[in-house]
Formats: sequence, structure tokens, C-alpha cells
Amino acid sequence: MDYSIETASIEKLQCNCVIVGVYQNQQLSPSATALDQSTQGLVSKILARGDITGKNAETLLINVIEDCCFERILLVGLGENKPLSSKNYRKALYAAVNSLKKPQIKTVICSMAECAVENFGSQWKARQIVEVFNDAVYQFTALKSDKETESKLEKIIISIPEQETSLANTGLKQGQAIAAGVNLTKYLADLPGNVCTPTFLAEQALKLGETHHSLSINILEETDMKALGMGSFLSVSRGSRQPPKLITLDYKGGDLNSKPIVLIGKGLTFDAGGISLKPGLGMDEMKYDMCGGAAVLGTLQAAADMQLPLNIIGLIPSSENMPDGDANKPGDIVTSMSGKTIEVLNTDAEGRLILCDTLTYAERYNPDVVIDMATLTGACLVALGRVPSGLLGNDDTLCNDLLAASETANDSLWRLPLWEEYQELLKSNFADMANIGGKDAGTITAACFLSRFAENFRWAHLDIAGTAWRTGQTKGATGRPVPLLCQYLLTRAHLA
Ligand code: BES
Ligand code: MN
Ligand code: ZN
Repeated sequence: MDYSIETASIEKLQCNCVIVGVYQNQQLSPSATALDQSTQGLVSKILARGDITGKNAETLLINVIEDCCFERILLVGLGENKPLSSKNYRKALYAAVNSLKKPQIKTVICSMAECAVENFGSQWKARQIVEVFNDAVYQFTALKSDKETESKLEKIIISIPEQETSLANTGLKQGQAIAAGVNLTKYLADLPGNVCTPTFLAEQALKLGETHHSLSINILEETDMKALGMGSFLSVSRGSRQPPKLITLDYKGGDLNSKPIVLIGKGLTFDAGGISLKPGLGMDEMKYDMCGGAAVLGTLQAAADMQLPLNIIGLIPSSENMPDGDANKPGDIVTSMSGKTIEVLNTDAEGRLILCDTLTYAERYNPDVVIDMATLTGACLVALGRVPSGLLGNDDTLCNDLLAASETANDSLWRLPLWEEYQELLKSNFADMANIGGKDAGTITAACFLSRFAENFRWAHLDIAGTAWRTGQTKGATGRPVPLLCQYLLTRAHLA
């Protein structure tokens, strides 16, 4: 989709549909007022009739307009006539774009960047318009014979008062980079396990390196990982015919001596559970167990597109988790790269087994902070549902920075405690620790396990099991937490 900024008054522009906001009590936004004047009071007549009350996210598409420069007008309810909350602003944007999908609309003028929003200005609003429109029209068609998508939208013109142009342009560019990152993440995540294998993911990373010269990619193979002593990671991949990969991406946008931000993403391209086999119902969704890895690729692409003045490392441990004659067995004891031994009481708790060696590997980058993201525990869905991602970590500043970024990006997080008392649940009679902590507090014990490999740096863990994809009728990847991470990086770079 093509996005642009225009400062001319909306009646001077050409399109299939113009989107204007209306408030409750028949009050008009500036663009609705301009349109009302150029249509002999059409908008106010419709409001007086009561066909749309102006409640937030209500919409009304006006299709036949005589003597009007527009083929269609979409009225969007904004709520009370006062600055909108960021959530309501996004809700109204989603409502707008969703009501434009079915009709044959290609070009749209969106005047909603003029609405006042609490705490945010034109840069944020332009960015949100791009991100929301992009998210709403995304469809996975790569493996369908009929590639036709529901939405025909091609061109979105964001109208904006002259003095806001520069801010809006910055937001537009950031929005485009983030939207492309989200799309890459969704696409890789929606691909099935027989296509998106660890080898395929590694190839995608190499491709990204070819199109983005600020990214250097290196792939560690099984032999490299053996030499490093990654006995925990390799115990998982041993049960699969697909060779494991540890994908590394190195983005150098900052000073030579500034410490990197390390992003680690779980890249389990299919999680059958191993010998502790999962039940069949819904097992197809375990193709999404690489969403953390896909989010690292999407975020690094966005960072490179935005040319962020930061140093960022991406690490993606990638493997399958399958039942096999050579697979991990419950009770097996493996030795991690750190030297710590692990009793594998459940082979389905494999994410932490590949992440722990990657955390140890991250030490060699002398990181400023390490943030890992993983579809790690079903328990996170029980605790938090599909609204926020779980956040745990060993550093309050880092966690608070991520919480702030999550609010701005509307990609929510909720912090869970990582108290010492929980650590004893990981006690093993035979090894340094067990890989599971019993039935209580599953998200926390998983993070406790990881924390033992993150003692030498500031670290946060995002459990995205409930947020990385939608289940049911609208099954599909969400691209989360790419918006959150991009916001964190933009804030670190003082650019948003
Ligand atoms: N990938 C799963 C977690 C998961 C399950 C994410 C369902 C989203 C939906 C992970 O590898 C896993 O199997 N975790 C186990 C851990 C348990 C054995 C301690 C789980 O959550 O059941
Ligand atoms: Mn598992
Ligand atoms: Zn898993």
C-alpha cells in the first residue's frame, strides 16, 4: 500500500472515498465541517437524522453523492468532542479501514490525523494510521491459488495542516518501516512448518542481509554449536530431521563503542512436544512457535529501514521439537553451554532449552540489555489471556521502559513477579535444575529457568504465547511484539 501526506484542503484532492470524523451531539471535525460546507450541509443533515450518533468507532458510508467531488464519504464516530484516548483513536481507525474493505475502494483520503489525541501529536497519529491500515488489510495469500485479497485499497493520503507536515512525514516513514516489519513477521509466522523450517528461516535472514547492507548475517550450524558446548539446545534438535540453526543478525547503526541491544527470539518452527507429545487438537498452531524469531527478523528489518542510530544484535535459535528414536526422553540430563546441568522432566518445555544456550551465547556481545521473546508457556494464556504479553525481568528500569513503550505502541504488556521464592520449584534431585516447575505459576517458573542464564546482564523476557497469533475463525499471526520493540528502540534513539 502506498501512503502519502497532503496539506491541501480535502476538497482539492482526488480519491474514491474520504474519511472524516464526527463527534457526539452532532459536532463536526474540521474536515467534516469543510466537507459539510462544500456539500450544502449534507453531513449535518445526516447527523441530524440520527443515522450516526458519533459514538466512538461507529461508521457510516455515504455512497451516492451528487454534485460532490467525492464518490463516497465515510463518517467515523470519534466519541465526545475532546481529545481521544490513544486506544479509542486506534479503535476508530480500525473501524474506518474495516468498513472500506468490502466496497471497491482503491484510493482514500484520511483526515483523522487532525483529531486531538491525549498525549500524542501528529508524528504518532500519522504512524498509527499507517500501522492500523496495514494491520487491518493484511491477508496471507502466498499459498492460495486465488491471490485476490478482500481489500482493494492501494493508496492512502493522509491530509494534515501545513505546519504539521514535518512531524507527520517522520511518523509516516516510521509507520511504513514498522508496518513492513510486522508484515514480514506475520508472513513468516503464517507459513506452515513444512515450508518454514530452521533452514528456511536462516535463508530468510540471509536474504534480509542482501537487501539491507547495514545488517550482517551469520548462521551457526550444528557443528558450530557442538563446538560451543550448546548441549541443551542440541538435545532438542536431535529429535528432528531438520538441522538446527542459530541465526545471528548484526545491525551497526550506533557508535563503535556503544553496547548493543540484544534481541533473542524463540524460533521453534514446529513444536509437537517431543516424546512428551502434545494432544492432537489444535496442534497445527504449534507452527507459530517461531513467532519470537520472526519478530526479531521483523524488528531488525524495521530498525535497518529506519536507520536507527543504535547497535542491535538479533539471535534466533531455530529448531523443531519432534518425537523420534533419538529425541530427548523425560529424565534425560543435558549440559548447557554455561556448564549447568538440566534434567529434562518434560520434553515439551523445549523453548527454555534452546533459549538458555542462546542467552549464554549473548554474553559475548557485552550487551547493554538483552530482551528475549518467546511463545513459551500455555500458562501465560491462563494467566493473562490474549490481551497483554507477559513481561518478566531482572531490571526494573528495563521493565519500566518496556512498559512505557507498550503503552505508546498499543502493544500491551503486563509484568509478573520473578521472586526468589519461585526458584525452588525448579529443584532437581539429579541435576542442577529441572526444566519444569510443576503445575503452579508456569510462566514465572519458565522465566525463573531463563533468569539463571541471564545473571550477567540486564534482561527482560516477553512471553508472547497469548499475543503472537489469533486462534479460531480469524486464525493468523498478529506481528506482535514488533510494534512494542520498535517503539522501545525509537525511544532509546530519542526519535519518538
Ligand atoms: N510452545 C509451547 C507453549 C505454548 C503452548 C504456546 C500453547 C502457545 C500455546 C511450549 O513449548 C510448551 O509446550 N510449553 C509447555 C511447558 C510445560 C511442559 C511446562 C506448556 O505450556 O504446556
Ligand atoms: Mn513445547
Ligand atoms: Zn514450544
